[in-house]
Amino acid sequence: MTDATAPKLIDGRELAQAVRDEVRAAINDWTDEGHRPPFLSAVLVGDNAASEAYVRGKEKDAAEVGIDTNTHHLDADTSQSALLDLVHNLNADPSVDGLLVQLPLPDHIDEQTVIDAVDPSKDVDGFHPENLGRLLRGTPRYIPATPYGIMEMLSRSNVDTEGMDAVVVGRSNIVGKPLANLLLRRTANATVTVCHSRTRDLAAHTRRADLLVAAAGQAAFIDGDMVTEGAVVIDVGINRVEDASTERGYRLVGDVDFDDVRPKAARITPVPGGVGLMTRAMLLKNTLQAARLRAEGS
Ligand code: GUN
Repeated sequence: MTDATAPKLIDGRELAQAVRDEVRAAINDWTDEGHRPPFLSAVLVGDNAASEAYVRGKEKDAAEVGIDTNTHHLDADTSQSALLDLVHNLNADPSVDGLLVQLPLPDHIDEQTVIDAVDPSKDVDGFHPENLGRLLRGTPRYIPATPYGIMEMLSRSNVDTEGMDAVVVGRSNIVGKPLANLLLRRTANATVTVCHSRTRDLAAHTRRADLLVAAAGQAAFIDGDMVTEGAVVIDVGINRVEDASTERGYRLVGDVDFDDVRPKAARITPVPGGVGLMTRAMLLKNTLQAARLRAEGS
């Protein structure tokens, strides 16, 4: 349950900084033991502006904590077989600990085939079926960074999910499905409902939520009427909406109508400055784990 004296805003900047500080300290210990710094390889296909911004953010965070990175930028018309060749080379490269292919990929490339090609021991995104299976079974190796970050935000904000009615809006393989599994674990013990675009009377479900997670990918999708008084609200959305008053011509908003929902929520994450930063921080944690796995030879 929630602590009524806690600040209303769950501050992703502060929490992500704490995670980065811990990862940096752990990497210092790791290199003091004589290991080389962890190495993360990212592959970016095409020129999707949001993907480029995400990858730049990941590089910046990695540099801060002492993770070496190399991003392979491929043209939008790169063939699937050329991309798979690169993935196979990075799988075989012993200097690469963690490997991720930024999504979405261009339409002529089958995402599942590419995800399946990543060596599961290097799959710091946790998207490979072996890693998703391990998560489902309750023996995770890599937890996908966004759901991992959300669980970390809840625990670091002293939100106890035991017995909570958790409603997750969105059923993606990257967020909704793995998060539902994490909330179900005996370490979290929430009762989980997963809603989606075909859910009948969505608001009837969201209004029952003690913990509401919005991962629908639609700006201001959740308004105040859909939220019960005292709910904990986690906004996973990062949507660009046109805004001529800004230098870039757009601003970032979440899936939650923040101003409308904030008065009712016990705790709420902002966008920007919320889940997105934690996602980046948890990728760093996974990359350190990848380096440890590699050193153990597993
Ligand atoms: N696209 C949106 N989120 C992610 C992510 O966490 N990892 C990768 N590789 N691509 C994404």
